[in-house]
Amino acid sequence: MTADTQPIPRPGILDVAPYVGGESKAEGVARVIRLASNESALGPSPRAIAAYEARAREIHRYPDGGSTELRAALARHHGLDADRIVCGSGSDELISLLVRAYVGPDDEVVYSRHGFLMYPIAAKTAGATPVAAPEKNLTTDIDALLAAVTAKTKIVFLANPNNPTGTYTSAEDVARLHAGLPPSVLLVIDAAYAEYVRRNDYEAGIELVATCENVVMCRTFSKIYGLAALRLGWLYGPAHVVDAINRIRGPFNVNAAAIAAGIAAIQDGAHVEASRAHNERWLAWLTTEIRKLGLEVTPSIANFVLIHFPDAKGRTAEEADAFLTQRGLILRRVGAYKLPNALRMSVGSEEANRLVVDALAEFLSRKDPGR
Ligand SMILES: Cc1ncc(COP(=O)(O)O)c(C=O)c1O
Repeated sequence: MTADTQPIPRPGILDVAPYVGGESKAEGVARVIRLASNESALGPSPRAIAAYEARAREIHRYPDGGSTELRAALARHHGLDADRIVCGSGSDELISLLVRAYVGPDDEVVYSRHGFLMYPIAAKTAGATPVAAPEKNLTTDIDALLAAVTAKTKIVFLANPNNPTGTYTSAEDVARLHAGLPPSVLLVIDAAYAEYVRRNDYEAGIELVATCENVVMCRTFSKIYGLAALRLGWLYGPAHVVDAINRIRGPFNVNAAAIAAGIAAIQDGAHVEASRAHNERWLAWLTTEIRKLGLEVTPSIANFVLIHFPDAKGRTAEEADAFLTQRGLILRRVGAYKLPNALRMSVGSEEANRLVVDALAEFLSRKDPGR
């Protein structure tokens, strides 16, 4: 037996390319506008900020490990059973916990080709194999997902709407996906952007979870509620899944300030509505204006747009990113999502949106783009 000279991580861990978040700085630029992480354009509710601040003098106390009041508030707001909700430190934590609970070495986790990066990362962390199903027109292809399922599949992840494409799967297609899965496979519907969606044929997943024993829905406070820094997410699932996750999560996985701010955020319906209305207006505006510049924009129903750039030297996504960054406009490169010719942009404030469109116009009209 040869002795290792240092501790060695479990198989799969060193195959994980660390998740790279959106940039927050641009060298030499004083004022930076961050549009790289699908954060809320309007920020959090003033009531959530007040609730957060009010916790300051209590930070020597452990939080309620069961997030009881927050689960009750979520249950009331969405008409759910509070006992079937688990809160987490962002939905990222819940995704990891689901994989930790249900996936082991040599198992498979199915997701769609341009699906959210945390799915393959979590799968590899468990020593499992992430299996990416092809998409059609940058949209999840249900038949391809089903075709990718094997006897080794433990979880199928569906981001709906999907990040970074902004496209979605109709309730009918989600039901068809579920109907095609063996009962032993867990379908995780990640509806991080559900609050932004205004489509009659969309359903975030609550109805399927209510009637099926192998469906879980994940949600977050990081997007429309504007609480990304506090790390707060939740899942709604069958009692047996909730039981499994509650056994392995940290006893105090959600902090007290997040719980307080989350409750206040849910209660400020006017702020959520204002955020939704702002998004609806500026998502449409950005899509139209960027297309007018001659760039392709994938139709999005979330709070971001995916902008496609040509291959031509001087006009590429990489060069556009550098050009925008010099002006303090930080968008997201999406090469890690197998979209090297695109940039993802969060819907921002009116000023931010106009600055990006103006800068893109300038970028595309450069006479000597090689410089
Ligand atoms: C589809 C999707 N799921 C989950 C998350 C993670 O959200 P959270 O901040 O709750 O961990 C994101 C964040 O961008 C996302 O786009």
